[in-house]
Amino acid sequence: MAIPLVDLKAQYLSIKEEIDAAIARVINKTAFILGDEVKQFETEFASFSGSTYCVGVSSGTAALALSLRALGVGPGDEVITSTMTFTASAEAIFHVGARPVFVDIDPKTFCMDPSLIEAAITPRTKALMPVHLYGNPCDMDPIMEIAKKYGLKVVEDAAQAHGAKYKGTPVGVIGDIGCFSFYPGKNLGAYGDAGAVVTNNKELADKVRLLRDHGRTTKYEHIEVGYGERIDALQAAILSAKLKHLTEWTEARRKWALLYDENLKNLPVKIVEPTNESFAVYHIYAIAVDRRDALLKYLHDQRIQAGIHYPIPLHLQPCYESLGYKRGSLPVSEWAAESEISLPIYPEIGEEKVAAVVEALAKFFDA
Ligand SMILES: Cc1ncc(COP(=O)(O)O)c(C=O)c1O
Repeated sequence: MAIPLVDLKAQYLSIKEEIDAAIARVINKTAFILGDEVKQFETEFASFSGSTYCVGVSSGTAALALSLRALGVGPGDEVITSTMTFTASAEAIFHVGARPVFVDIDPKTFCMDPSLIEAAITPRTKALMPVHLYGNPCDMDPIMEIAKKYGLKVVEDAAQAHGAKYKGTPVGVIGDIGCFSFYPGKNLGAYGDAGAVVTNNKELADKVRLLRDHGRTTKYEHIEVGYGERIDALQAAILSAKLKHLTEWTEARRKWALLYDENLKNLPVKIVEPTNESFAVYHIYAIAVDRRDALLKYLHDQRIQAGIHYPIPLHLQPCYESLGYKRGSLPVSEWAAESEISLPIYPEIGEEKVAAVVEALAKFFDA
């Protein structure tokens, strides 16, 4: 039995009529840019995220960069973020002319370790960018305390964490602004690129709305040098159709994660744990093992498509070499990058496939 890491086709087939109707509706209206579909999705996603405002943008990367710009982060500024994340977190910081400063992760949760943030603060630090990795909320209380103490802005990278909560509060509205990706494989995925910003701050929402659409106030007047980073109406309509199912899909992910937890606890694997008092949404089910690459090959030979998130921490990526980090500078992340495996998880995976993955792992460790 072949087991994919994610199965977007299974999800499409489960709601095919709703998706096809949403696409046909937009095409029939031939209203592809902004308009009612975008407004409706923004209202629905704001409500889902517990935020007052939501602004749809063209990707999670755009959400991060526009948020930083709206907060006034720019050349000469530093933004502290995790090294264990997708490159877009740091790219967005570069895109506004600022400099990322990487901190190491907590070995239990793989999220940014709040106890390391203060040592990374300099007079140039302008913002913190916690990343809710794998759908697991960062430990936000100490992060918000530090932000308050030093007068820093907080941009939450919630690209992997739709519907996740920290102490009962949805991620994205704990800091100043929250950024989501709707990349197809995400828990709420578009059929192409899309993203959104959520915030309770009207001024910030207005600024992002202005920036995403060429800084225009009317068709012909541009008061800011902005960007072409709007969300497509087609994607908004698809996302509205899918959002209705997200809570049920998240429950399914959590059920499969629990099943993995129960069945892996006697194997020599370290399960990446949710942060205390958090509601994790398991975008990725991550474990850490010795002999990771051998296990990955074994699983692939059994037609089980496991993944790695991420094999190279950002501070060791060639594109960030100019920042001057060396191997050994953020050791927990370096260990994580060598040890992490992402097991197949998606709402439709089912008990049989989870059992097959567990059995393959047990056989590998037996041998
Ligand atoms: C943690 C994180 N941040 C940012 C992004 C960027 O999102 P996008 O691919 O929609 O630009 C992603 C996803 O790809 C991500 O996983």
